[in-house]
Amino acid sequence: MNPKHTLVEQTKKIFQNKYNKNPEVISISPGRINIIGEHVDYNLGLSMPAAIDKYLCVAISKNKEEKINGYSETLDDSFSNNYSSNNDSRHWVKYVHGSIIESLNKSSDNLGFDIVINSTIPMGKGVSSSAALEVSILLSINKMFNLKMSNNDIIKRCQSVDHNHINIKSGILDQSACLLSKKDSIFIIDFFNMNIEYIKYNLKNIKWILIDSNIRRELASSKYHERVDECKQALEILALQNNNINNFRDLNINRVKEISILPLKLRKRVIHIVSENDRVSKMKEAIKEQSIKKMGDLLIKSHESLRDNYEVSCTEIDSMIKFSKSIKGWIGGRIMGGGFGGATINLIELGHEDSFIDKLSIFYKKKFGLNCDAEDLSFVDGAETIYINSLN
Ligand code: GLA
Repeated sequence: MNPKHTLVEQTKKIFQNKYNKNPEVISISPGRINIIGEHVDYNLGLSMPAAIDKYLCVAISKNKEEKINGYSETLDDSFSNNYSSNNDSRHWVKYVHGSIIESLNKSSDNLGFDIVINSTIPMGKGVSSSAALEVSILLSINKMFNLKMSNNDIIKRCQSVDHNHINIKSGILDQSACLLSKKDSIFIIDFFNMNIEYIKYNLKNIKWILIDSNIRRELASSKYHERVDECKQALEILALQNNNINNFRDLNINRVKEISILPLKLRKRVIHIVSENDRVSKMKEAIKEQSIKKMGDLLIKSHESLRDNYEVSCTEIDSMIKFSKSIKGWIGGRIMGGGFGGATINLIELGHEDSFIDKLSIFYKKKFGLNCDAEDLSFVDGAETIYINSLN
């Protein structure tokens, strides 16, 4: 049995033991990485994410108590709430409750659910365990009530969970990646029109390695909101000056002169967005041409822009990337995700993975007294609902 099926079977058993019945629906969602296209989702740009072989599984059934009873095997924690209100401040409870409420449009009374969550996606490591949780619950409810929500609808409602229940005004990169990915592929998602292009991934001589810096910044979510606001502000100023500019896609790398009207800080933010979109398109070409060197250079350029223009990196990760340049077999890498700590994604020549990880770990420990954790990545299919038992 593969790890995905093992997780499903395990989750089903936990549910049966906990609630003395079978779950009606089981859904499973992978975590995600992002190769390139950072901080552009909420700016209607382009990203290139992929789902990874770490999973979160949700088993769920209706109950007649008008309560949501939840158990997380991963956290060994549980809750029991009224369906209509949640005063629980635990993060995972807010995600579960928020996902159920958003999926049913807040409109359904007399409902209750029993739910079990079980996950192999590391939490707080920048691979979107929370998006996987939202997506799994939304998919389950969609199936259970035959709501016929489209993928885009599911993604939007997951975003509403972040906005309305967690108070993070995130984009939709994470949920899109968890839901829409395909095995052995990466995809380019255009957040302007939600167009998706899959690229079969058959590069044999390289490995993608995720390195967790183990740096978590308290300020990360307020800084994220600061960036969202700065981009909004920049766009307002540009639109006032030129009514041909309605969004950042109306600018391109050759028209950045037009942003000289902006104060320096906002100009830098816009340069990042416009140049990052350009790098995503170039990465697509580089992958198609199997040009490893170009791919590495684009990752390095992306890191530099996130560090200098968007200012979402941190000393520890900048040092890691700088040091990595001296390691044989490292082709390129960059800070990944929201930033201010978290993980880096690295492109490594096959055969050099272990020495890269060893050398980087020794350097990092010596310089910052911290361990860094490495993960070898493979790309898998997006989320699915895989079990329904109507004989409950
Ligand atoms: C976080 C957010 C995403 C996206 C990335 C940065 O992961 O949840 O929506 O904005 O940061 O690319």
